[in-house]
Amino acid sequence: MKTRQWLLNDHPRGRPLKDSDFRLVETEIADEPAPGRALAQVLWLGFDPAQKGWMENVADYVAPMALGDVMRGSGIVRVVKSNTPRLKEGALYAGLTGWTEWLETDGAGFEPVHPDLPPTAMLSVLGTTGLTAWCGLFKLGEPRPGDTVVVSGAAGATGSTVGQLAKVAGARAIGIAGGPEKCRWLVEEAGYDAAIDYKAEPVRARLKALCPGGIDVVFDNVGGAILNEMLGEIATGARVVICGGISRYETGTMPAGPENYFNLVFRRATMRGFIVLDWASEFPEIRRRLAGLVQDGRLAFRIDEQQGFEQAPATLMRLFSGANRGKQVLKLAD
Ligand SMILES: NC(=O)c1ccc[n+]([C@@H]2O[C@H](COP(=O)([O-])OP(=O)(O)OC[C@H]3O[C@@H](n4cnc5c(N)ncnc54)[C@H](OP(=O)(O)O)[C@@H]3O)[C@@H](O)[C@H]2O)c1
Repeated sequence: MKTRQWLLNDHPRGRPLKDSDFRLVETEIADEPAPGRALAQVLWLGFDPAQKGWMENVADYVAPMALGDVMRGSGIVRVVKSNTPRLKEGALYAGLTGWTEWLETDGAGFEPVHPDLPPTAMLSVLGTTGLTAWCGLFKLGEPRPGDTVVVSGAAGATGSTVGQLAKVAGARAIGIAGGPEKCRWLVEEAGYDAAIDYKAEPVRARLKALCPGGIDVVFDNVGGAILNEMLGEIATGARVVICGGISRYETGTMPAGPENYFNLVFRRATMRGFIVLDWASEFPEIRRRLAGLVQDGRLAFRIDEQQGFEQAPATLMRLFSGANRGKQVLKLAD
């Protein structure tokens, strides 16, 4: 049988993504999986800003990508034929599928979807997104009741989860996002106490007004100027969590060091980065707790579903224009 695949066609270093960074091909795949392997159909792909960094080979926490490799990415599959006890025929699993419509896999790294939640939860609130929000916030941010937590990239998949987890911890949550619609959504639906539209409002002045006692926990997905403004308003003993730096993912140049970094000294604060994979051994337990919060109605998540395998590159690009509303996924098949 045949499957379509998207291959890496160029390394987009120091520039935005282009259509020509990807190449669509059709290739043969065996109808009958080899012993110890299964044939699976990809139903959804999930998208993460980190995929651009993987294409550039900027990160050393994943293997480098070569031109001609199938684009790396996660997805949800349905197992169609199985010759391995790891994967049951007919069942749905989440894992690193790559951008392909069909794949043969030994099932390593694939997890069953949650039986009582939509399958795409495994790409969002129960996937890397939710795990990143949980680990960054609770292991590094350590919010306490009454603390003020400020999140950049707040309306995104990770950011919107962080705000809700901060509320579960009894903290105030202030989100920074682009545009009035995202800011309204943060307050009216995602449980944030207040939101700052960084495209229309003076971020520093709004932080001062909203955080009179200073910021206890910064959860930064963005870097650059917004991080600098948040650093200027930290409280004594603040924890600054560096999760991502999407404002520089398309330029490739390292931003000048944040001018306000020395406030870390005056405020006796810490600033730490993390890679969520370092807590992989805890993922089953954290996932169980995240699922419990969703089922109790304390943690909502929103999925932005695009359609059609040929749209994969355009769907990844949505993350960098801010077009996505919640976790970006692409539906390939029913
Ligand atoms: N450290 C880890 O282990 C780890 C693991 C997973 C993800 N991450 C990071 O977490 C962050 C969020 O990822 P996600 O999957 O949840 O994506 P996301 O936040 O759902 O989507 C990206 C959002 O970033 C914002 N953005 C894009 N360009 C920007 C710019 N130049 N300046 C400011 N904001 C910009 C846009 O929102 P606006 O419209 O509000 O601008 C966009 O919607 C990323 O930086 C990712 O790399 C880190």
